[in-house]
Amino acid sequence: MADALRNYIDGAWVDAIDGARFDVFNPATGEVVATAPDSQPADAERAIDVARRTFDDGGWWPRTSERERGRILLRAAEIMRRELERLARLESLDCGKPLGEARDDLEEVAFMFEYFGGWATKVDGSIPPVGPDAMSLVVKEPMGVAAAITPWNYPMPMAVQKVAPAIAAGCTLVLKPAEQTPMTALEIPRILEEAGLPPGVLNVITGFGETAGAPLVSSPKVDKVGFTGSKDVGKLIMRTGADTLKRVTLELGGKSPNIVFADADLDAALEGSANGIFWNQGEICSAGSRVFIERDIYDDALSALVGHAKSVRVGDGLAEGTTMGPLVSKEQQERVQRYIEIGQDEATLAVQGELPQDPGLAGGYFVPPTIFSDVKNDARIAREEIFGPVMSVIPFSSAEEVVELSNDNEYGLAAAVWTRDIKKALTTARALRAGIVWINDTQPAPTEAPWGGYKQSGIGRELGRNGVDDYLEEKHIWVNLAP
Ligand code: NAI
Ligand code: MG
Repeated sequence: MADALRNYIDGAWVDAIDGARFDVFNPATGEVVATAPDSQPADAERAIDVARRTFDDGGWWPRTSERERGRILLRAAEIMRRELERLARLESLDCGKPLGEARDDLEEVAFMFEYFGGWATKVDGSIPPVGPDAMSLVVKEPMGVAAAITPWNYPMPMAVQKVAPAIAAGCTLVLKPAEQTPMTALEIPRILEEAGLPPGVLNVITGFGETAGAPLVSSPKVDKVGFTGSKDVGKLIMRTGADTLKRVTLELGGKSPNIVFADADLDAALEGSANGIFWNQGEICSAGSRVFIERDIYDDALSALVGHAKSVRVGDGLAEGTTMGPLVSKEQQERVQRYIEIGQDEATLAVQGELPQDPGLAGGYFVPPTIFSDVKNDARIAREEIFGPVMSVIPFSSAEEVVELSNDNEYGLAAAVWTRDIKKALTTARALRAGIVWINDTQPAPTEAPWGGYKQSGIGRELGRNGVDDYLEEKHIWVNLAP
């Protein structure tokens, strides 16, 4: 029997008002592993009303002490660590990723609770000088009711990096996880309830974007939307949110350059370049999907990359030895397969790795690790986000040229630069129009540092201290002291 998941509203586990449900699939087999409430606008309205009331009624939640809010988050970190193995299995089952990657993700989630729990007591205001006859007090206050709308590629991290700072700031929330991956999102209120979070502060509804997500964006009772997902939905959220002048934080993916200079430590650089697109099945907003290789080393580098693709072991994320799982859904599998067809008209197919042979996985949403070589920077496979294990390799001749090619894209989320020359590394890093640049590494996203994009990769930053500021308003209180 598949698990019947429920919404969490006002501290109670409830079905959708009309009782409708949708199926949740194991991406490795295509089997139904759970059903979840197919929440409608009326369910969203119910969750919003609870969050609004919890924020407004006497202001009791926003006026809880910062210490109390911090303590709840610190306790949540402990509970996370205690349950890490079970939660990592659930995360892997839900989205397909290899269990080892899920464990690493959830270690970081435990730390997010700790990190933002620490911030709760450290959000200072300021007292700007305004002369002897007055005093200005600048205080930070919670923004109000927040909506968090999250994607399926890192289900629990993407949710907690919105929920934890919002709670630290004193906001109340409604979380709507991706319809593909509702399972671990519903563990978050359970953990926080055990940690002492009062009912009504965090509410979670499952369902689809147009029916359960859109009402959160249009509601005048919601003050802020934190969204991670596709560029098109991000734009829609900004447009719809404009009617009520919503504060928005948007993280919308990218087409990130991964630049390998000839003087790099090539073993590390090429292994890193492969990981940057093959980890998490390539379903990474900051994936290094455009791999730029300096011409002097192009042929050797390409054959090393091909070797890395062949060594990937595609299989059930929960099985021992798997290094790449299935994509999250049939829809995503088909989307990526279409791009692989497009790529065959645009560039040279350098390699496709092996698919799993196990007949038990015949219904899974697998795509082999794929590399295209001699790709033109203006080809569709080099311009558009594919969100799968598909690498485009592009040669370059100089630092100036590779910066120009890298920046010639509408996205600007992340970039990696591989070289032993510190000056070249830093001048390239400064010239790239991207929110995150890794030097001689790929993909680290520590909770302590800001995360977000330039250009059409988004607006605002999550994580770091920005993560909390994003859920705060500033108020200036002027005191007349004139004699
Ligand atoms: P999506 O942007 O449609 O879904 C992300 C979230 O937004 C989900 O919770 C979804 O239910 C919600 N949503 C969808 N329509 C909405 C609406 N009208 N109002 C409010 N919420 C809405 O992403 P999708 O369709 O799953 O994936 C499509 C592509 O988006 C991928 O191939 C990938 O290129 C990109 N993507 C980027 C992500 C990132 O990390 N930046 C994450 C997921 C997808
Ligand atoms: Mg969509």
